[in-house]
Amino acid sequence: MSAKVPTIRLNDGNLCPVVGFGTYETKKADILTAIEAGYRHFDGADFYGNEQEVGAALREAIAAGKVRREELFVVSKVWPNWTGKGRPTLSVKRTLKNLGLDYVDLLLIHWPTPFKQVDDDYHPGAADGQVLFDESIELYDIWREFEDIKSAGLTKSIGVSNFNSQQIQELIDNSKTVPAVLQVESHPYFNNDRLRRWCQEKGVRMTAYSPLASTGPNLNQSLPKPIDLPLFKELANKYGVSAAAIIFRWQTQRGVIVIPKSSTKERIQSNINIFHFVLTADELLAIDGIDNNYRCHPWNHWGISKHKRYPFGIPF
Ligand SMILES: NC(=O)c1ccc[n+]([C@@H]2O[C@H](COP(=O)([O-])OP(=O)(O)OC[C@H]3O[C@@H](n4cnc5c(N)ncnc54)[C@H](OP(=O)(O)O)[C@@H]3O)[C@@H](O)[C@H]2O)c1
Repeated sequence: MSAKVPTIRLNDGNLCPVVGFGTYETKKADILTAIEAGYRHFDGADFYGNEQEVGAALREAIAAGKVRREELFVVSKVWPNWTGKGRPTLSVKRTLKNLGLDYVDLLLIHWPTPFKQVDDDYHPGAADGQVLFDESIELYDIWREFEDIKSAGLTKSIGVSNFNSQQIQELIDNSKTVPAVLQVESHPYFNNDRLRRWCQEKGVRMTAYSPLASTGPNLNQSLPKPIDLPLFKELANKYGVSAAAIIFRWQTQRGVIVIPKSSTKERIQSNINIFHFVLTADELLAIDGIDNNYRCHPWNHWGISKHKRYPFGIPF
């Protein structure tokens, strides 16, 4: 059975399905399963190295008449070694070639920490223990090039990922475009609520990555997975859904887009079937209360936290 996912309107007028499918390390068969299940929003990135495979699956589904291109919401991201002048344009053109598409629906600056601008190494210098930076690159210059990429029709919407509020404000102050989306880590242990509320005031829509807190370099084995917490088990029993579905419903009810990833058919299907029940205000508050400021993706390996634009050194 295929689920129908609601959309929300971004600040530029474009529509975005509120549940998407994460494609990090995802295979073609999983994308095809996701399309059958009703996903139309696919979150990818040049860095994931599988845009050819993702694109092949999307084009196969279009050719088979399962979905039309206009129904899809395809996301890609530009990695920090592709942020110098002219390079985001080269990056997105390569992405489009890999996907086999004429445009993406949303293009994000993946991280606000420009690296040394080399073509063949996504973590230049990491082998010696310290990623090499290019701190001369201004975030608003990357952003102005993103505006040009949008004007050229290579993407419908533009946004950022892993930026803090000050960095987003810097873009707003130095350009004509408020980012349509901020994609950041958000889950019950790290709900990022102050940033969510700040974004809401500015008209920036938040997307939650790692929504189950089950991936990332900082995975703390001493914390139970959120889906194993008694509150989620109790609510899952009450509504007859999985604990993960409760988490995704909580996010969508607080206005946040979610992009879970799974390689298990049943989970791919159940993760999107979350719109037949509504959590109560008290239940939403109880889930908000689980937050313990625990970040799975602190972005502090290979000396990256020494970058002058390291985003996580301020409260939000
Ligand atoms: N912008 C960024 O910097 C950034 C960073 C990280 C991630 N992302 C994006 O966010 C997407 C999702 O993030 P993520 O993969 O880190 O985290 P996630 O979706 O929170 O976790 C994925 C893991 O959860 C498991 N899972 C999925 N559904 C489940 C369910 N219903 N019950 C139990 N376990 C379930 C999956 O296992 P099975 O496969 O075995 O089902 C997989 O191991 C990525 O694919 C990527 O597109 C973006």
